[in-house]
Amino acid sequence: MSSIKVECVIKEKNAIGEGPVWEEKDETLLYVDISGQKIHRWNPATNQIQTMTTEKPVGCAVPRRSGGYVIGEGTRFAAVDWGSQAITTITHIDADKPNNRFNDGKVDPAGRLIAGTMALEERPAVLEPKQGSLFSLHTDLSVVKHFSQVDISNGLDWSLDHRTFYYIDSLTYTVEAFDYDINTGGLSNRRMVYRLEKDEGIPDGMCIDSDGRLWVACYNGGRVIHIDPHTGARLQTVKLPVQKTTSCCFGGRNYSDLYVTSAYLGMDESDLAKQPQAGCVFKVTGLGTKGIPTNSFAG
Ligand code: BGC
Ligand code: CA
Repeated sequence: MSSIKVECVIKEKNAIGEGPVWEEKDETLLYVDISGQKIHRWNPATNQIQTMTTEKPVGCAVPRRSGGYVIGEGTRFAAVDWGSQAITTITHIDADKPNNRFNDGKVDPAGRLIAGTMALEERPAVLEPKQGSLFSLHTDLSVVKHFSQVDISNGLDWSLDHRTFYYIDSLTYTVEAFDYDINTGGLSNRRMVYRLEKDEGIPDGMCIDSDGRLWVACYNGGRVIHIDPHTGARLQTVKLPVQKTTSCCFGGRNYSDLYVTSAYLGMDESDLAKQPQAGCVFKVTGLGTKGIPTNSFAG
């Protein structure tokens, strides 16, 4: 057994650090600061961060096969040209809910982007309920709305055989599964696979590993939990030195490092004094498992 090590690797703080994605071709970590309205790219070899500013809160940024990124920003899907920093609208969603914003999103194994929305928060996790929806941006740039009535649309990923979609609506305090039709991008047969215990906090971002198990970042829980979605068992808990752990992804050579983002928004001065690394990005090594390559948007 290798021993687990948790290291703070990005010391620049994010109000809501989120949506980490490993970009294999450049060996860089892409992530966003949602309320800070920033997209960051960090190069672990040089420890340099490149940053661009968005116009509205940015819930997610994903690589695009033809170059650049696609983002869920405010209530639009948009294309980003990293070189010129230009942002161009692809399509608007939630037209009847101008106070909504995109939150987490991820590219499916067929190259579609799935991302969900939520209402603007009064303070973290306090908001008008059931205002969010879950959308797919298909590769022909058409949008499908899967369902509404979501509180905080959050973590998502697919099983290794692409037949199951795992999903978190944070305020249900559960991880759910759907049957996934990889040919159409359709969802059916919603069910629960794991319910968080009280001290685990609020389920936020998640990712799958090469054994088909999930790693779930727990907001206000200061941890990432490892769960087996087939049995509903929690296999492991990895504690971090900050409470607001928001999301995670595997990266690095061989995808064997787990990167974990965090937030400081909503903390008072005494919390901040106790958690000086709130908002930083951490690297967890020695987990004895690895991730799978990142999908890029194929439209
Ligand atoms: C959202 C935050 C929210 C948090 C906890 C994050 O994904 O971006 O705004 O407070 O989840 O549910
Ligand atoms: Ca999130």
